[in-house]
Order: sequence, then structure tokens, then C-alpha cells
Amino acid sequence: MQTPDMSHLTAADYDRVYEPAEDSFLLLDALEADLAWLRARGPQVALELGCGSGVVVTALAAALPTCLCFGSDLSANACRATWRTARRSGVTVLPVRCDLAQALEPRLAGRLDLLLFNPPYVVTDTEEVCSSGQLAASWAGGRRGREVTDRLLPQLPHLLAPGGLFYLVAIRENDVDDLERVMRRLGFGMTLVLSRRAGPEHLSVLRFERVPPDGD
Ligand SMILES: C[S@@+](CC[C@H](N)C(=O)[O-])C[C@H]1O[C@@H](n2cnc3c(N)ncnc32)[C@H](O)[C@@H]1O
Repeated sequence: MQTPDMSHLTAADYDRVYEPAEDSFLLLDALEADLAWLRARGPQVALELGCGSGVVVTALAAALPTCLCFGSDLSANACRATWRTARRSGVTVLPVRCDLAQALEPRLAGRLDLLLFNPPYVVTDTEEVCSSGQLAASWAGGRRGREVTDRLLPQLPHLLAPGGLFYLVAIRENDVDDLERVMRRLGFGMTLVLSRRAGPEHLSVLRFERVPPDGD
């Protein structure tokens, strides 16, 4: 997968929008590792939650040219950056400013073949978790670094298409075993696609897919 040209974004942009970092690149690498398999599944609709600079969703749109790609972010600056990044790469991505998938849910529920999220995963006080688009919304994850992710998980059975896939970036402190348990209760199996140590962080990309109910 081609990493998009990001040279249109300046230090001033990165004062307001999350700059692509190890976690972004690990998610790109995980998608690349799955790419042949993803292409064979023929996804038609994809959404990246918290699209930030647009680096991930733009690469995805370039790699899957027949897939309609959306991004969402709390930050208007991030949505503008994503729009510019996609244009720079000559692909179409539709960024929408909203909390998680809220604004898209009425149209896209049950239709998402691919859902990606590199969430704010750093362990912080709950008060630091943001509901507006300031830069701290990129990293402040509250208790166990899970507060934003945990709001999303119960929505997944409703959002994803029957064969839909969900890719999530997590760190060790997010308790990957517990994420697996929660998702299992929601009817999804977990695969560890990639992990990497980046400074103090043990990063992983997890992929979730519906499992048939027991007995099938
Ligand atoms: C770690 S950054 C990832 C940015 C980009 N996807 C990447 O990988 O480089 C997390 C992004 O999620 C956004 N975000 C945080 N909470 C959100 C929410 N509740 N709904 C939508 N976006 C959110 C932040 O504004 C930020 O752009």
C-alpha cells in the first residue's frame, strides 16, 4: 500500500490535527498485510473513525478503488485535512465531522464492509477525554484508554454488514484480552494482525469478524 503524499500538511496543521505516527503506520501495515484477502472480499463501503490527517483512509481508498470510503472525526480541521490528503492522492474520501459514526449511521448501518479505528487510546483521567475536536481528542482515552472505544463496541453489530470487518489499534494498557471477551459477547472473533513496540507503547492492530453462533 502506498503511503499518501502528506507534504501539503505543515507544522501549523499538525498543531491542530494528529500527525501520522507509529500507530497510524502500524494500521497501514496491517491493512497491507491483509490487502489481497480484503480485495478478494470486494468491500464496497468503508469508514475510518477518527480519520485525522487522512493518511490511513486515503491509502485505503487508493488500494481499493471500487470501495466508497468515508472518514469521520470530531475535529473540523481533521476533516479538512483528510479532504486535502485524498485530493492530493487523486482519490475520493468523504469526511464527515461527527462523534464516531453518528451522522452516518442512518444511511450506513448494516452496510459497512470495513470499519477502521485508531482511537484515542492513552490512559488518562476521564475528565481529559474530549467531546470536541481539540488535539487532546487524538490521544486522551480515559480509564484504561478505553472510554471512546468502549462507546463504539456495542454499536458494531448494528453498523457492520454481515461479513463486515473491524480493525482497531490498541495498546497493552487497553487490555486486549478483555477487548476480545467483550467482542466475543457481541458475536465477533478477534485476530491479532500485527504488533510492534514503539518507544514505551506495545501497539497492536486487532481485526474482528462475526463468528457463527455455537452449533453452526
Ligand atoms: C490517534 S488519532 C488517529 C488519526 C489517524 N486516523 C491516524 O491514524 O493517523 C485519533 C483521531 O480520532 C479523533 N477522535 C477522537 N474521538 C473521536 C470521536 N468520538 N469521534 C470521532 N473522532 C474522534 C481525533 O480527533 C483524532 O483525529
